Amino acid sequence: MKDTFKNDINIGLSANEKSLPSKYFYDKIGDALFVKIMNLPEYYLTKAEFDIFKNQTQDIIDTLKIAPDTYFELIELGAGDGTKTKELLKVLSHKNYAFEYLPIDISLNALEQLETRLSKELPKVKVTKKQGDYFEVLEGLKNSHHPKVVLFLGSNIGNLGDAEAKTFISNLSDALNKNDKVLLGIDLIKPEHIVLPAYNDKAGVTKAFNFNLLHRINSELEADFNLQQFSHTPEYSENTGIAKSFIVSDKNQNVTIGALNKTFQFKAGEKIHTETSRKYNDDVLGSILKNSDLSIVTKLLDSNKYFADYILEKR
Ligand code: AVI
Repeated sequence: MKDTFKNDINIGLSANEKSLPSKYFYDKIGDALFVKIMNLPEYYLTKAEFDIFKNQTQDIIDTLKIAPDTYFELIELGAGDGTKTKELLKVLSHKNYAFEYLPIDISLNALEQLETRLSKELPKVKVTKKQGDYFEVLEGLKNSHHPKVVLFLGSNIGNLGDAEAKTFISNLSDALNKNDKVLLGIDLIKPEHIVLPAYNDKAGVTKAFNFNLLHRINSELEADFNLQQFSHTPEYSENTGIAKSFIVSDKNQNVTIGALNKTFQFKAGEKIHTETSRKYNDDVLGSILKNSDLSIVTKLLDSNKYFADYILEKR
């Protein structure tokens, strides 16, 4: 793990256009900062998707076309704290649907917390947690021929570049059988004055989330980033629908990474790309799904039309 981290940092900072992989945001501190982000007034994504799950639960169930007595597997990729999913689980459980909930996450800690919470709040729901890489776990589930519904919420797909998103969708599609469903939560393309503040909140939590990457490099790879000499600058283009976060060097400076035995130069104004948060519309999603066996059945929107949960079906 440490070697992969070290190599990825070296590759990212050695490139002409510097970048750092956003997957390294999520250590214990980063996880806690992301929970804070989800509760920020500017971060509309979580509230919008919660609105769909809370107020259109029956519509979700109806479009999934599951009969109450047909046993199915409800699989969630990157379950997190399960707040939105709980709304769906509540109704399925009260209406006596026959199903099992299988949250998949890389973090055993997150899964254990979710399992404990659900056993108290929704004791009737059968929860089988699966720790590991999404696709390794999905591969293992392929042998079960129960109908499957896969949840991939929170616009997590937006953190992938379009080429990666296509690969992700094609792997997901391969792991499913005909008529299985995917519930894909995505943030919609909308004006800059709504999107940009979500990535540049007044309280500075998103800045701390980005800078946590530099903290990690300092403490885990013996580096000497001076965090006072960098700024957080997100950008968004309504034309492309792509938001990007950057850490910018405020001056010409050198940073040494002890674990790499290497010094990196930063020019004043030079950017490090830390995250992509892509926004979608029907066309963008259509092009991502194009060569896969997944088709759009319908989409559900929140009351502000900020966010969409698309229901996809395997052909
Ligand atoms: C997890 N992911 C969908 C978040 C997003 O909106 O791209 C991560 C995030 N980055 C900054 N704020 C939230």
